[in-house]
Parts: sequence; structure tokens; C-alpha cells
Amino acid sequence: MSSTSDTTANNDRVIIFDTTLRDGEQSPGISLDQGEKVEIAEQLARLGVDVIEAGFPIASQGDFESVQAIAKSVRGPVICGLSRTALGDVDRCWEAIESAERRRIHVFIATSETHMKHKLRMTPDQVKAEAASGVARARSYTEDVEFSPEDASRSDFDFMCEVLQIAVDNGATTLNIPDTVGFAVPQEYAERLANVRKVVKGDYIISTHCHNDLGMAVANSLAAVQLGARQVECAINGLGERAGNAALEEIVMALRTRSDYFGGIDTGIKSEELARTSRLVSRLTAYPVQYNKAVVGRNAFAHESGIHQHGVLNERTTYEIMDPAAVGQGESKIVLGKHSGRHAFADTLKKMGYDLHGDALNQVFARFKELADRKVELSDADLEALVAEEMGDTVRYAFSLVSLDSHGGSSSTPTATIVLDHDGKKIEATAAGSGMVDAACAAIRQATGIEGTLTDYAVTSVTGGVDALADVALRFEVDGVSMPGRGLSTDVVEASARALLNALNRIVRVRDTGEDPTAVSRPGSLS
Ligand code: KIV
Ligand code: ZN
Repeated sequence: MSSTSDTTANNDRVIIFDTTLRDGEQSPGISLDQGEKVEIAEQLARLGVDVIEAGFPIASQGDFESVQAIAKSVRGPVICGLSRTALGDVDRCWEAIESAERRRIHVFIATSETHMKHKLRMTPDQVKAEAASGVARARSYTEDVEFSPEDASRSDFDFMCEVLQIAVDNGATTLNIPDTVGFAVPQEYAERLANVRKVVKGDYIISTHCHNDLGMAVANSLAAVQLGARQVECAINGLGERAGNAALEEIVMALRTRSDYFGGIDTGIKSEELARTSRLVSRLTAYPVQYNKAVVGRNAFAHESGIHQHGVLNERTTYEIMDPAAVGQGESKIVLGKHSGRHAFADTLKKMGYDLHGDALNQVFARFKELADRKVELSDADLEALVAEEMGDTVRYAFSLVSLDSHGGSSSTPTATIVLDHDGKKIEATAAGSGMVDAACAAIRQATGIEGTLTDYAVTSVTGGVDALADVALRFEVDGVSMPGRGLSTDVVEASARALLNALNRIVRVRDTGEDPTAVSRPGSLS
């Protein structure tokens, strides 16, 4: 992998510092093994991040070995290790990253009163001394040293700046201002960073590191970029301690999509790799990506309402501010559900090879709306079955289903009441049976007055899940003529009733027109 990343100060370029493998891996329940970490690091390099924070080498032998493995094999980005200020930590961190092409040590110590008092049990002077020695030791190994005053957004500003100045004076080249507990709000956070720049003298890059406890990690990071930060620490899918870190994909696409607002500041990220990276991280961490997650969620480019679908089909930009292909999400998705309109429905069928118009389209669309009311989302397989059911039925509707009520159970006799429309007249019948399907078929035979024998009956599920469509195919024989019938519904009893009616309607047509029954009943005439 060639070295494409850029970690030098540049006014139009934000350094993307990815901490998926360090802060992200600290998400509750995530534990990646070495091979998985290397796989993610390789993908991060492909994505074009500038810095990979590969881990916290002192934390465990496993962490150390993983950082070392990444340092040895991943080329392109700077490989960074996290370290407390203790000299032994810094030495161990260096040992882990030493074999990388380019390496950075990230030294941190807390500067907020609460952290110094209750966690570090150090006085402010001790913290200053620690910062000085830790940074100096890191700088003795590498010219690329980052320093973070942990819990910066709750730290006394003047004290924090004193510590930051000590870090710069001892060789830190990046000053990261962590909003460790996600306490900051955008303008306040951005101004804090801008004020650091005014107070702390020296040549350094200012960096953001925002947690999402109040859902503002991305907003805080971007506000800081607007006021001069040129490194953003972030993680794929927003992984990280507690509510996570700023989501890398959101930072990158916000800067790119609103480049008008951000004055053309960009990153070196190959955005087409975002979706793949998100999927890989989600798979290996077993952390699902929420459906409506910005940029990489499976619904980020999906449209369900008729008005939106119509707009997107005419011109994608009516309801999309990013091109799904630009983030590796392929094409906009039209999801057919109960809010969908005829336009999107016809378009989807057309793409599937069914070019329906006029009455044929109206007929299939009416059935689709009925089914969509009961099933959240209809897949292509569902639609195929629906078209096969409706369009295979070339028969005049002598009888059509108005309603069906069936009752059953282990302690009552299964019964069904059916209401049919026959030439504009409603006919109703109730019957009992050995099960609800049998009762519904008996009620249909009673209502239509057509007696015969059910010779074949098969039910299949069109897709998976409890709301899958049941597809019933049967044959019904009357006076030596056997007719096929097919019915579809989320309810097996209704699908069976529809299939029987389908067969009976064929029988009525053969009787009425005197046509050759074999022409109607030959295999394949259903579709
Ligand atoms: O959130 C935080 O303060 C951190 C530091 C180690 C940078 O993760
Ligand atoms: Zn953090």
C-alpha cells in the first residue's frame, strides 16, 4: 500500500484519525482478536484514513501484540499507540509501534479537577510534571507525538492550557482536546479549541475527540473544524466508550456534502469504501448498524412514501443529498410498503420484467395495497408471487372474495364464514371443517354451489419471517375437469380460499364459454 495519508498542517485538509481499534474497541462487549484487528486496519488503510490508533499497548499482552502486528503489516496510514504518561507505558508503546512505516505516540493525562482528585490522586503540579516527562520520553522516540488532556471540556481552561503549553514545549506536535464524557455543546467546544490556539504558543495541529453521550459528537467535531481544528478523531459506525465516538462516515460526508459551508475543507477518505468498512466492522464486532444510521445504515438511501418515491424516480436529488454510490451503497432503494404509490410500484415491476398498464396494473396494485397493509415490506419474491397470482388469473371474476372469518383451536370446531361477490351480489356462507382451511373451502363450495374434489394442495412460504406470504397452489376437480388455482396472502387460510376461488372461477369460465378445459388447465397457464 502506498503512503497516501497526510498528517502535515494544511488549511484545506482535515486529518482523519481513526480510533475504531482503540476507543471503538473499548465499547462494552467488543473484543477483537489480533487477526480481526489486522483485517480492520487493512480496510482502514484502503479507506484512506491518515492515522490508525491501533490500540493501547500497555493494557494487555494481547493489545500489545495486535498493535505490533498492525505496525508490521499495514502500510499507508501513520500507526499510533496510546500511552499514559508513565515512562514504562511510553516505552512499551514505542516497542509496539516501532516497526511501522510511520509512527505516533499518543500520550494522555487527565486535567479536570474531578479526574485529578478522584482518579489520578495527583496534584495539578504532579500532572504538569507527568505531562512533561511523558511527552519528552515519547519525543525521544519519534517526531510525531500527540498529547491529550483527558476530560478537557470539564477542565479549568487556564490550567489545561498550562499543561498543553508544557506538552508543546516538550515536543508534542498534535494537541487533542477530548470531550471525554460527551459534555460539550458545539459552539462552546469549538471556542475552547480556538482559544487554545490563541493561548498555547507553538507549531501544532489542534485535534477533536468527541464522545456522543448527548448525541453531539459529530456536531461538536464539525464546529471545531469550522474554528480551526485540523484533525478529527472518530470511529467507524461511531463505536467507542459508552455512547461512542464521533462517527467517521458522518464527519467525512458532512464535510464533503456541505463543502459550501465548510469552505472546501476535505479529507483524504475514499468514500466509496465507507459502506464496506462499516459492514466489516459491524460483522467483526457483532455490533449491528442501526437501520436508519446516517450514511451507512441500510435505510440511508431507502424511500418508502409514494411522494418521495415519485420524486426520486424522476430525479434522485429531490430526496437525496448524497449519491449512494459515493459511499459504497449502490443505488437508491425503493422500498415497497403500504405508503408506496402506483408510480414506484409500476417502476419496480418494470425492472423485474413485468410491464403492466391500465386495468392489469390497477388490479395488481389493488392487491399489493391490501397485502402491504399487513406486511411491512414486500420483497421482489413477494411481488413475483403477487403478479403470478393476479396476472395468471385470466378468468373473468365470477366470484371474488369480500371477506373471510375463520375460527379454530384445539377445543372448538373450526368454522369459517365467507362473503363473496357474484355479479355485484353478496353471498354469504358458513361451514365447519376438520381445520380452518377445510372450513373455508367448505364455505366457498356452499356459497358458489360448486361441488367437487380438492385433489392437490401445497402451501409454500414466499419469503422468511412470521409475516411471510403464503403461496397456495391447488387443483380442484369438477365432473372430470381438474383446474389449478393459486392464492396468496399473509394468512394461510385466506391464501387457500383465494386459491380455491381462482380454480372455481376457471371452472365457471369453461362452463360459460364452452372452451377446451385442457387449454385453461395445462401446466404453466397460471403465469
Ligand atoms: O475520551 C478520551 O478522553 C480518550 C483519551 C484517551 C483521548 O479517549
Ligand atoms: Zn475517548
